[in-house]
Amino acid sequence: MDERIAAEVTSVTIGRGVLEEIADGPETLIVVLAQPGAAQVTARVVSDLEARTIPVVTRMLPDAEEAKSFKVVEETTAWMGEIGVKRDGIVVAIGGGALTDIAGFIASVYMRGIEARYVPTTLLGAVDAAIGGKTALNVGGKNLVGTFAHPDRVVIDVDLLQQLPDELLAEGMAEALKAGLIGDPGLVDVIERSGLHADLEEVVKRAVAVKLAIVEADFREAGSRAHLNFGHTIGHAVEAVAGWSHGRSVAVGMVAASAISRMVCGFDGEERIEAIIAALGLPVACPGLNRADLHRLMRMDKKSDPEGLRMVLLEGLGRPLVSHIDPATLDAGLDAIGIGDE
Ligand SMILES: NC(=O)c1ccc[n+]([C@@H]2O[C@H](COP(=O)([O-])OP(=O)(O)OC[C@H]3O[C@@H](n4cnc5c(N)ncnc54)[C@H](O)[C@@H]3O)[C@@H](O)[C@H]2O)c1
Ligand SMILES: [Zn+2]
Repeated sequence: MDERIAAEVTSVTIGRGVLEEIADGPETLIVVLAQPGAAQVTARVVSDLEARTIPVVTRMLPDAEEAKSFKVVEETTAWMGEIGVKRDGIVVAIGGGALTDIAGFIASVYMRGIEARYVPTTLLGAVDAAIGGKTALNVGGKNLVGTFAHPDRVVIDVDLLQQLPDELLAEGMAEALKAGLIGDPGLVDVIERSGLHADLEEVVKRAVAVKLAIVEADFREAGSRAHLNFGHTIGHAVEAVAGWSHGRSVAVGMVAASAISRMVCGFDGEERIEAIIAALGLPVACPGLNRADLHRLMRMDKKSDPEGLRMVLLEGLGRPLVSHIDPATLDAGLDAIGIGDE
């Protein structure tokens, strides 16, 4: 099955066996930027391009966060210049969220911007990183540098995602759950019912639809786009302090944000969310972290302002809001995930 979600901003194809569509269109040099974990998918795409005699060059970038650096930007753009990539060249990014972040950045600055297409190969990449047109590099802080630049096309082949190991599936399910919590309560039901065995095509389509709708309404994050940060204020701090993966950190961040939502706006779904997260094999607590470290990181968060920390909370399922949080309430939220004060 193959369905196109029409978006003003990006063409997103979600389906099974749709990988080959990434190369459709006028023939021009294709620059494949790939991630080690996506080597098999990359080989398939490249051999398909070669079979269609479409000119293609490939470069493997470092894995995961290692790729998101100015050094990689410099080396890769210099290489693109040397091999003669022109304004009509197309970057095809194949990999997880880290790869689409860096490849998208490169495409957005090379010759002031050339076409970019994404093949997300992780569930997190498919439901989140590849959608919405934010690119990013880590410079000191995570994602401190980046551009707003929509890819021209995103092709999500669910058959690829179906083969992911449980751990990577769970990471993506955390973001899909977030999408459900802020914008599609029915998606929460689906994930609650079937966990990692949920119909991935349905999960991806629904989660992508939530994100596209939010991004179309508020591309540059003047307002409602912030709702996508549910679970991320505390999640990002946990990610930095504990060194956990993004999905696991966001999972525990959503548990804390649910507890704070109960305290601030009477949200009654806290236990349900915790149970769904636990059933996905994701953490619901992270004891042993230093509370002061988390406070420091949250003060530096891009989403904090002079009045203090702003967090996305839930009044109910599908009803997010942004609220200032006082320090005592924040600490009570940290208590809920096992982070005490010594
Ligand atoms: N731009 C955005 O809006 C946005 C949104 C969310 C997350 N992100 C970014 O996305 C990144 C996280 O994405 P991620 O979880 O995909 O991480 P990732 O890109 O680091 O990939 C995780 C690991 O999976 C491997 N991998 C990739 N495809 C695979 C496959 N098919 N089978 C097996 N292994 C595979 C990778 O090689 C890597 O080691 C972070 O850098 C985060 O900042 C960006
Ligand atoms: Zn996230």
